[in-house]
Amino acid sequence: MDRREFLIAAAWATGAGLAGCRRGEADAPPAVRPAGTGEIRTVHLATGAVDLDLSNGRPFKVYGYNSRTSGPEIRVREGDTLRVVADNGLPEPTTIHWHGVPLPNAMDGVPGITQQAIPPGEPFVYEFVARAAGTYFYHSHAGYQLDQGLHGPLVIEPTQQPGHDREFVLMLEDWAAIDGGGPAASRAGRIDEDPGGMMGGMGGMMGGMMRGRMGRPRAGEPEPLRQPMYDAYVMGGRTADAAEPLRVRKGDRVKLRIINAASSTTFALRLAGHRLTVTQADGRLVEPVEVDLVRVGMGERYDVEFIADRPGRWALLGAPGEAAEARALRTLLYDGIVAGELSHEGPARPRQLSHGDLVARPEDGLPMVPRIDRTIQLTLSGGMMGSPYWTINGERYPDTAAIEVERGERIRLEYFNMSMMAHPMHLHGHFFELDLPGRPRKDTVLVGRMMGRMAVEFVADNPGRWFHHCHHLYHMEAGMANIVGVRS
Ligand code: C2O
Ligand code: CU
Repeated sequence: MDRREFLIAAAWATGAGLAGCRRGEADAPPAVRPAGTGEIRTVHLATGAVDLDLSNGRPFKVYGYNSRTSGPEIRVREGDTLRVVADNGLPEPTTIHWHGVPLPNAMDGVPGITQQAIPPGEPFVYEFVARAAGTYFYHSHAGYQLDQGLHGPLVIEPTQQPGHDREFVLMLEDWAAIDGGGPAASRAGRIDEDPGGMMGGMGGMMGGMMRGRMGRPRAGEPEPLRQPMYDAYVMGGRTADAAEPLRVRKGDRVKLRIINAASSTTFALRLAGHRLTVTQADGRLVEPVEVDLVRVGMGERYDVEFIADRPGRWALLGAPGEAAEARALRTLLYDGIVAGELSHEGPARPRQLSHGDLVARPEDGLPMVPRIDRTIQLTLSGGMMGSPYWTINGERYPDTAAIEVERGERIRLEYFNMSMMAHPMHLHGHFFELDLPGRPRKDTVLVGRMMGRMAVEFVADNPGRWFHHCHHLYHMEAGMANIVGVRS
C-alpha cells in the first residue's frame, strides 16, 4: 500500500467508516440538507494528543485526528453528503473548519461565530453536501490549534473520470519541535524576530531593539503570540527521509494535490527534472499552465500534473518563506530505479507561477455579474517596530468593521498591503474571482508584501456571518480578521 492508499484506508477504517448509506437510514443529523446525490458518507474524527517524531528520535507532543497528524484523508464524490462525527478528546474546546468548501454557515466551524466550540469530551456532527469538486483541507479554527497539528486533507472528487494515472496528496507543514508545537515554542520565547526576512543578519538584534509597544493588549487579554521559530518543514508529518517516496512508472500522468497547511510559512515548490502543469487553483479549474516553480501561501492549494518521462530519483523541493535555498521535502522515485543520487536538477532561471498566469475555465461556472454593488478597501498592516499586532484598516479583530451586505450583492475587496510580509487573505463560504485578466477563482489569495495590491470580487450568495482573515495563524490571532455578514 502506498501512503495515499494507507490514508484512505485509515479514513475508511475509522469508526463506522465511510459507509455509504441512503439518506434517512441513519440518525437524524442536525439541520442543513440541501440537494445532492443522496449518498451520505460518514467519517469519524477524534481529536487527541499524539506523539510526532520528525525522525530525530525525539518525539514531541502535538494534537492530531484519529491518533495522527496530519489527520486522515477524507475523500468524497461531488454531490455526496459528508457527515463528520467529531469527538473532542482534547483538554480544551475545538472546532473543525472545512477550508474553502462552500457550505451552510452553521457547518463552517468557527468558534464564537458559527458555533460554540466543542467542549472537551463532547461530540459534534458536521454535515454538508460536498458541492464543488476540488482539493481542500480541514483544520481546527480554535486558538493556535492549527499550529499544533490539527489539520488533514479533504478531496472532493469530480463525477467524471480522472485524466491521470496516479495521484498524491501533499500537505505542507511547518513545525517547531517542542511539546505543544508552535504555540508552545512561541510561549517559550523561541520566536522568529524577523519573520519577513527583511532585516537579514541584523534580524535578532534589530528585532529586539525595535520591540516597541504599538498597540496595547486589551484589558484582561494576553499579548498575542509571535510567530515561532520553526525547525522543520515537512509534508504529512514526515520528513523526506522518513516518508515513502512518491512512486511512479515511466509514462504515468501524475497529479499532485498540494495543500499548504502550514501556519506561518509560504513555500516555493519545484520538482527536480520536471516541469509542472498547474490545473487547479484552490480547487477551481484553470487553463493548464506550465511552470517550474509554484509558490503556495498558507491556506492555498494547487493541483499540478506532470508526465513521468525521466526515470530516476528526483527531489520535490521546497523553499520556505523568502529563503532562496530549497530543501528536499519528498523523493520522486521511478519503478525499477534502485541506485543513483537524489537529483536536484533544475533550470537556472525557473519560471514561477504568478496569479496573472491563472485563467479560469468556463466549465467551473460561477456567475459573472458585470457590475459591482459595493467596493471595500482593506489596508493590511502591522508587525512594525516589533509590534505583535496585525490590523485591517488600523483595527484588530473584533474591533475591525464588519462588511455587511445583502444576499446577491456583488462585492469587491481591494487589498493594500503596507507591511513587510505577504498575507494570504481567505474568505469563508465563498469563492472569489481575482481582478486579473484571467479571472481565476480562489478562496485564498496571497497579497504581496510592501505595497502589494490585489482585488477580489464575489457574489455574496451564501447567507451568514463569514470569517475573513489572513491565513498566517499568528496574524489572524493578532487581529488581521473581520466578518463578512451576508443577510438572507
Ligand atoms: Cu483555513 Cu478561517 O481558515
Ligand atoms: Cu498575514
